[in-house]
Amino acid sequence: MIYISDTVKYIGVNDHEIDLFEGQYFVPNGISYNSYIITDEHCALMDTVDSTKTEEWLCNLKTELGERSLDYVVVLHMEPDHSGSLKRVLEEYPNAKMVGNEKTIKFAEQFFDIDLTDRVHLVSNGESLNLGSHTLTFVAAPMVHWPEVMVAYEHSEKILFAADAFGKFGALDIDEEWDDEARRYFINIVGKYGAQVQKLLKQAAELDIKTICPLHGPILKENLGYYINKYDIWSSYKAEDEGVFIAYASIYGNTKKAAELAYEKLIAKGIKAEIADLARDDMAEAISNAFRYDKLILACPTYNADMFPPMEILLMNLKEKSFQNRKVALIENGTWVAQSGKRMRNAIESMKDMTICETMLTVKSSMKPGDEEILDKMIEELLN
Ligand code: FEO
Repeated sequence: MIYISDTVKYIGVNDHEIDLFEGQYFVPNGISYNSYIITDEHCALMDTVDSTKTEEWLCNLKTELGERSLDYVVVLHMEPDHSGSLKRVLEEYPNAKMVGNEKTIKFAEQFFDIDLTDRVHLVSNGESLNLGSHTLTFVAAPMVHWPEVMVAYEHSEKILFAADAFGKFGALDIDEEWDDEARRYFINIVGKYGAQVQKLLKQAAELDIKTICPLHGPILKENLGYYINKYDIWSSYKAEDEGVFIAYASIYGNTKKAAELAYEKLIAKGIKAEIADLARDDMAEAISNAFRYDKLILACPTYNADMFPPMEILLMNLKEKSFQNRKVALIENGTWVAQSGKRMRNAIESMKDMTICETMLTVKSSMKPGDEEILDKMIEELLN
């Protein structure tokens, strides 16, 4: 349990056993499934947890509720990492009503063999639920991150129950800074839906918020403007930092040498830079870093007359997440016909407001005298 106030408690759980979050994301420091209980004249549970943690979480809930009955199970988001224990809690507390919108109910019936007859308290956008001294107002937040998502504002304690928004990877018993894992979480999971996040931020700006209770990661109580500003940057597709992210894919190490030389040259110039091997490093982090910086260098060999697949995966993901408004330089490699530069260029040109440097380094199998001069020219063009 984490104390938020005398009447609002965190009863979520940490998951360090999970192999891949959402079936694809590495979470080396685990993940937390956040759940909260508001005790008042009527008691309301704010979301449940993943089904792998039902028993541990139910124990937390029962400890906090004691002899009290549970009146409402508020479902802000039906994705199974939060609704995985929904059926069980409705069975455990037969008088509790599930609070959700029409889509929430539809999805609940799709996920579970569940009879919700007489078990639903339907709410729509802007509607409120009075618990006694606490009042929750529900605001629809479609596609942040699923269409049924709502956030809830609790008026008496000025708490925003933010669903997936403001969440991060990493369990709560791990001490780590917020930015990197919140960025990796946001860009990869909600990045496509920038416009919807912007809309939600505008609505949130009209509220007096003292505490943000997300469904993953720490409860945010101080310096809320910092986190809101990060969300504003990420969801408006602006670069967070000036600098260069170098993403390379390399078959035999020759393209890697060109990418690493570019990295060394940037560092020597005092430019902030990061480099990633797309075949070996975490792809989700590479996607996140591409969003972080205002410039990119992409280095890729030709493979089957196309890009080497790890680069294709990066660019497919960036396009899917509406990546835009960045400057890019290209390094291609080919032994008989170099095609990867053209393919990377086509992929980037399909994105919005992208600038591609005219100077491209074409490596013929391995770096040769004279290539370095072109690399210098390319970097100069990228930085100016
Ligand atoms: Fe944490 Fe979209 O679920």
